[in-house]
Amino acid sequence: MISDRMLKALNDHLNIEFQSAYYYLAMSASFLREDFNGFAQWMRAQHGEEMVHAMKFYDFIDDRDGAIELQALQGEQSEWDSPLHVFESALEHERMVTSKIYDLVDLSLEVRDHATNTFLQWFVTEQVEEEATASDIIQQLKLIGNDGNGLFMLDRELGQRSGIEAEDEAGAPPA
Ligand code: FEO
Repeated sequence: MISDRMLKALNDHLNIEFQSAYYYLAMSASFLREDFNGFAQWMRAQHGEEMVHAMKFYDFIDDRDGAIELQALQGEQSEWDSPLHVFESALEHERMVTSKIYDLVDLSLEVRDHATNTFLQWFVTEQVEEEATASDIIQQLKLIGNDGNGLFMLDRELGQRSGIEAEDEAGAPPA
């Protein structure tokens, strides 16, 4: 039986993952407006990845016989100054998510919920990758600076990222 405190914290984090998906979709839309179609595709794929994260929480809460609670999403920022600014915002966001995951891990230990602790370890590892990926792109954008040709090439490269469907990575829910 999951504790009320742990359940509330998991539901709050479910909202954070959905909000993350929404945030990256807003970034994708802003890139589309600027005709950076590759960056837009990358952000759209990131949106898909966040939906996978959210659905992992969704299914886990149900697996623990907890009540899934869908909270309201907030409106998102719609404009950024440059691709560098977008990815810096993404990194800042991921650092916030990492800190929230660590809070959940701390709580799972405090209430001796080892099943939730094990579930969360996947996210601890995933956040390392999430932050590293955003950092790498920021470094490339800083090297490129205002070189239009470099931006064109990076846009094309990031556009190769394929979309992730929630069911593909998370697996279909149990029958
Ligand atoms: Fe689901 Fe990018 O953290």
